[in-house]
Amino acid sequence: PVLVIDFGAQYAQLIARRVREAGVYSEIVPHTISAAELAEKNPVGIVLSGGPSSVYEEGSPDLDAGILELGVPTLGICYGFQVMAQQLGGEVAKTGAREYGSTEVRLVAGADGGTLLAEQPIEQTAWMSHGDSVVKAPEGFEVLAASDSTPVAAFANDERKLYGVQWHPEVKHSAYGQRVLENFLHRAAGIPADWNSGNVIADQVERIRAQIGSGRVLCGLSGGVDSAVAAALVHKAVGDQLVCVFVDHGLLRAGEREQVEKDYVASTGVRLVTVDARERFLTALAGVTDPEQKRKIIGREFIRTFEAAQAELVAEFAAEGDPIRFLVQGTLYPDVVESGGGSGTANIKSHHNVGGLPEDLQFELVEPLRTLFKDEVRAIGRELGLPEEIVARHPFPGPGLGIRIVGEVTEERLETLRAADLIVRTELTAAGLDAEIWQCPVVLLADVRSVGVQGDGRSYGHPIVLRPVSSEDAMTADWTRLPYEWLARVSNRITNEVAGVNRVVLDVTSKPPGTIEWE
Ligand code: XMP
Repeated sequence: PVLVIDFGAQYAQLIARRVREAGVYSEIVPHTISAAELAEKNPVGIVLSGGPSSVYEEGSPDLDAGILELGVPTLGICYGFQVMAQQLGGEVAKTGAREYGSTEVRLVAGADGGTLLAEQPIEQTAWMSHGDSVVKAPEGFEVLAASDSTPVAAFANDERKLYGVQWHPEVKHSAYGQRVLENFLHRAAGIPADWNSGNVIADQVERIRAQIGSGRVLCGLSGGVDSAVAAALVHKAVGDQLVCVFVDHGLLRAGEREQVEKDYVASTGVRLVTVDARERFLTALAGVTDPEQKRKIIGREFIRTFEAAQAELVAEFAAEGDPIRFLVQGTLYPDVVESGGGSGTANIKSHHNVGGLPEDLQFELVEPLRTLFKDEVRAIGRELGLPEEIVARHPFPGPGLGIRIVGEVTEERLETLRAADLIVRTELTAAGLDAEIWQCPVVLLADVRSVGVQGDGRSYGHPIVLRPVSSEDAMTADWTRLPYEWLARVSNRITNEVAGVNRVVLDVTSKPPGTIEWE
């Protein structure tokens, strides 16, 4: 793989995705990794990410000096570029000239862009975000580009295959950013572009077979794209050794159960058992208002429900031999990284399928999507022939509507939220807006009441929050500017058609600082 060394910003994931978009498999590792540990992973290339620190700060993230001596082609970006410059004897200084946002960068005359900036215009717009600057390149390095306030904005040492840019090529605002990454990967490091959905499927099928052997495996379908693709992959690998279980935990949206029971089964041919656990979840959630506690309870009940389903299925399969020992989960790479499992980053929320597992879990996990980003999962789903309605579905959290009711979860509140959510989804589709948003959580503020006037009388009802967001990976997001006309229609319909709701509000917070979900 190409290893992206994470210096603590959100950029590492974006870099990893862009590297994959260039057809090269990449993974993220923490900056604390030693040269020996890194070498064990047999990287074909290394990218040093940007980061929020200054190389001057006491305790700023460092890099094992041995890493740049491994002979592995390496590209430093922003902070990573400065770390590289500093370690190799260049000079980084506080010039006092901060550059932030779109900046003009010029190729240095005579250098012709070198390998790294080959076939690029003399001037280009690049996205910068830095306070310190490299003022002198290390010995043996050629300066390739400069900006008004940065004399060394890019450098290269072709012999040692070490490269660096001050700007962020992974950000779309950098006009030729992807080209910089491709030049590094393909031209400088000589890595072929041969990583694609077809290969991922072939590779995963092999891994799944190796892990599961002739054992039986259980997969929980949530109705979402992740578990649907994970199950389809496992089904491709081991066929009818897979049994899918769909838990109706009562926290589903309108129509979801039917979609799984009909459409998914029709397109994949998997064997499906539906478990009605609505009572069980509602009972476990009674009186609970704390979001983290809700997540833990839902995660735990999920597993317990599977264990109960397993007990029944084991009896059924007894005649044929082995019990069910494996459990498929549609965990994605961002879940792993955000839960602190990827790079030692802070635990922001414990995602129920990563952080909330009980310690006495009886199954060995099969997680075929653990290294993938959402758009890659979708591409694989399409390649596997899943219907577009499933593959293109907006993300929906495992804990479902349980974390979209601020306050205690009750059946009555669920019905209210379901009705509002159905209106929002129907109207989004009718207006052709599905592709413009990443997802649109609809949240019921069950603990908040406000006064309204409905019909002839005073009402004292609950607000519904619309949270439409645009995002590439759910790590960062912006609120989607949906048309006022659309908002007006939806507000009208919800307050007219959903009993107990007398107000519709729009969440206009980006992520960060807000998360996408309210809990
Ligand atoms: P946040 O709220 O953390 O959400 O910005 C990021 C993305 O993750 C989804 N989400 C979850 N998905 N289990 C899941 O499977 C969870 O516990 C969970 N919490 C949030 C959320 O819908 C968004 O797409």
